[in-house]
Amino acid sequence: MPTLGIIGSGNIGSAVARLAVAADMFVVIANSRGPETLQDLVAELGPLAQAGTVQEAAERGDAVVLSIPLKAVPDLPEGLLADKLVLDTSNYYPFRDGRIEELVDNTVTSSELVQRRLDTPRYVKAFNNIMAAHIPALARPAGAADRTALPIAGDDAQAKAEAAEIIGRLGFDTVDAGPLAESWRFEPETPVYGRIYFEDPNVPDELLAESDPGPTPAVDIKAALDAATRVNVAERRF
Ligand SMILES: NC(=O)c1ccc[n+]([C@@H]2O[C@H](COP(=O)([O-])OP(=O)(O)OC[C@H]3O[C@@H](n4cnc5c(N)ncnc54)[C@H](OP(=O)(O)O)[C@@H]3O)[C@@H](O)[C@H]2O)c1
Repeated sequence: MPTLGIIGSGNIGSAVARLAVAADMFVVIANSRGPETLQDLVAELGPLAQAGTVQEAAERGDAVVLSIPLKAVPDLPEGLLADKLVLDTSNYYPFRDGRIEELVDNTVTSSELVQRRLDTPRYVKAFNNIMAAHIPALARPAGAADRTALPIAGDDAQAKAEAAEIIGRLGFDTVDAGPLAESWRFEPETPVYGRIYFEDPNVPDELLAESDPGPTPAVDIKAALDAATRVNVAERRF
């Protein structure tokens, strides 16, 4: 049985952990404060899950989901994930992560920046375009007629194929959005981000909180990726 290391136990990390144990995967999950602060979460996740240090989650995972704020990536130990298949959920928000020139002027994508910092070739951007609450709501077993798709991007074809297999096991189809340089296509404010997973993607902002998610097939994700235009990251507010 494969083990998924998960670094970051917040909204997205814990949602992915729930899918992983439901898919009979071992989980080693870590946060910044240490395993002792994760006892309630691992009790809820059950016997397949353990809390660990960041180092343990990295070492014991056959693949590692990295789900921490972008600004925290430089705090990770040098070389931590160099040999790992990494699925990174991060997005860049200048108000949270600080002004990073290469990102605000669109010289590189946030995933290119993280990949460079981690110095790992086996890096895939995934789970960054869906709201945390929609992850358990839309996950379906393989073969279900109402499977939802997630876009993924990466520069290593084999790593992308392995990531797609893991995401498939977790409950989603995948759409290859191309290399990391194209990953802006499914970042915030694009048509592939967030709203696409609502039953009515055009629901007014004030009704979003009470609106239902709706299954979103690969064909819809592909069309939205094609329609995406690059946004001005410097103006990103939420
Ligand atoms: N929330 C969403 O719906 C959503 C959707 C798509 C993408 N994203 C992106 O996914 C990433 C995670 O989002 P989130 O909402 O899950 O964040 P979150 O709820 O704020 O959780 C962040 C997690 O990262 C951990 N962390 C922070 N610095 C760390 C470090 N140096 N080492 C280890 N762990 C560290 C935190 O640990 P402590 O709690 O111990 O500090 C916490 O468990 C972000 O980049 C976000 O923009 C979020």
